[in-house]
This record gives sequence, C-alpha cells and structure tokens, in this order.
Amino acid sequence: MVFKVGLLGLGTVGTGTAKILLDAARRHPLLETLEIHKVGVRSLDKPRAVDLPEACLTTDLEAIVTDPDIDIVVEVIGGLEPARSLILEAIEDGKHVVTANKAVISRYGNEIAEAAKKAGVYVLYEAAVGGGIPVIQPLQQALGVNRIETVTGIINGTTNYILTRMESEGGDFAPILDDAQKLGYAEADPTADVDGLDAADKIAILASIAFGGKIRREDVFTEGIRNVSASDVNYAKTLGFVIKLLAIAKRNDDSDTTIQLRVHPTLVPLNHPLASVNDVNNAVLVEGDPIGRVMLYGPGAGEGPTASAIVSDVMAIAATLHMESPAEEKLPNPLLSNAYSDYK
Ligand code: HSE
Repeated sequence: MVFKVGLLGLGTVGTGTAKILLDAARRHPLLETLEIHKVGVRSLDKPRAVDLPEACLTTDLEAIVTDPDIDIVVEVIGGLEPARSLILEAIEDGKHVVTANKAVISRYGNEIAEAAKKAGVYVLYEAAVGGGIPVIQPLQQALGVNRIETVTGIINGTTNYILTRMESEGGDFAPILDDAQKLGYAEADPTADVDGLDAADKIAILASIAFGGKIRREDVFTEGIRNVSASDVNYAKTLGFVIKLLAIAKRNDDSDTTIQLRVHPTLVPLNHPLASVNDVNNAVLVEGDPIGRVMLYGPGAGEGPTASAIVSDVMAIAATLHMESPAEEKLPNPLLSNAYSDYK
C-alpha cells in the first residue's frame, strides 16, 4: 500500500521534508508507504538542494490540490494566501492535509477544522509550533486529561537565537538577525519574528488546544524584541536575569472562562527552567492539574527539525489510513510496533 504526497512549496522546510521522504535509508517502516507524487514550486528553473525527478515539479499548485492520485497534501509555502485557499480546496477534494502554517492555523483553524470534519479528512499541524519538538500532539493527547493552568513558551527560534547571542557577545540585534536568516530560522519577512507576531500565532494555537473555546488571534497582546538593547541585556545579567521573549497563555485565577494571552520580552530569573533555553531552541512549559509541570524542549526552527515534525504528521496519517485498509494489506499495527505487547 502506497500513499501519494503532494508537496506545496520547496523552500527550506519543503526541501527538508522531501529529503526525509526520499531518504534511501528510511528510518521507519511507514516511510516505505509514502511516495512524493508532485511538488509545487514558484519557478522550475531554480537550482534545488534535493534531487527530485523533473516530472514531479510543477508551478500549478491548484493542480496538486485537485490531483485525484494524491492522498496527502503537505503545505509549506507559508503566509496567509494562497495557502489558506489551497488547504481548503485540498480538504474539499477529500485530501488529508499537513501544514506548518501557524499564520493560517491561528486565524482560520476553526474554519479548517469544520471543513475537515465535513469532508472526513485529517488536518495535522505539529510543525506549526516548536519546530521539531512534539508539542501539539502531546498537548492534545498525553496532557489532554489535565486541567491546564498555564502554557509558557519560548516559541520563536529566531528571537531566542538573537537574544542568546546578544547576551553572550553584547551588541544589538540587527546584525545577528542576518545570521538567523542565513541559517534558515527566520520567516521570509523577519518582522514576524522580531515583532513577536510569529510567537503570537503559535501561542494562540497552543491556547486553543490547552483551553479549548474559540481563541481570537487578534486578542494576543504582542510586543517583540525590537526595543531590547544591548544595555538592557547587560543590566538584566548583572541582576541575575536573562531576557527571553515569552509567549504566555494563562488561566485567570480559578476561571473557567477567561485567560490571558500575551507575548513580550520578560526578565527570567536564572534558576527558572526557561532561562537556560538558548540559541534556536524552543521550550514549552505546561502547568496543569494533576500532572504538575512538564517541559517540552528542543530545536525550534530550521530545515531538519521542522521537516521532522511535518513528516511525523504525514506518518500519523499514513498509519491511520493503513489501519483502515483491507486486512490482507495490513502490516502489524504500525503505531504500536514498539509497544511492549509486541515483545510478549
Ligand atoms: N521563524 C520561526 C522561528 C520558524 O524562528 O521560530 C519556526 O516556526
């Protein structure tokens, strides 16, 4: 059984995704069931960092979302449009969708979920928050039984990289931002990183999972790191703090109906678990009842980590489709292949 993937976008994350899907030394038996069928690109003439058959490439993104041979559409073009329309068209055409698009999910997540429910397809977006760290799935599943009180995150790799280097080297953020762009961490328009908009998209998504209800993206108070100077960072250090761009979703005292949502530079005491989250790493600290504190930590941006999250979603869909396939084509349950029961 083979599931065909249509990839929309071959930038940093799209290239990383294609590399994993084409990897000869496949890392999981489920990857054997996935095949790249079409890749949508802006121009056919650009040099590529991944070896794809010419016949796969097209500039016609519409043709991918309506291609009857494609089972799963992966959207990694970013931005609001045409990404949102393409996602909705793919869903209406009965395709499962994997997206890294925090701008779209934070604003149109409910509309997309409704459309997916109506069409009977899956839409997964693990890569939208925290790069390579599994955050969405743990919050929905393993942590889902808890009453969440706060979700506090360092969820923008670019600004964390900048603040870390400002702390270790001194100097202002502008020249360091260039390096973050070269390393493939920053958004196409890095204003979204520096001004906290990217972190605001991400905390809106986490809050909608942790607290349910309809979170309005425009309700997130947002201040970025543009006004953080080298001397602010130095003073903070002298006083025993680091400056971090925190994204916070917090239940108001004992409230079942109201939360705070904010992104801003914050003085974090050196003994706080988020103080030592450096460079491009992200971390999400979840506090809930009865679990207490859980911190999810890892690489928050860049080609490989983000592609890892994308492909994990594609695999989750493939695993589910596989379980729904006729009995004679089934492998042992791919989701439980490492479970203790297999070793009994
Ligand atoms: N520009 C984003 C960041 C990429 O720096 O975190 C990952 O979402």
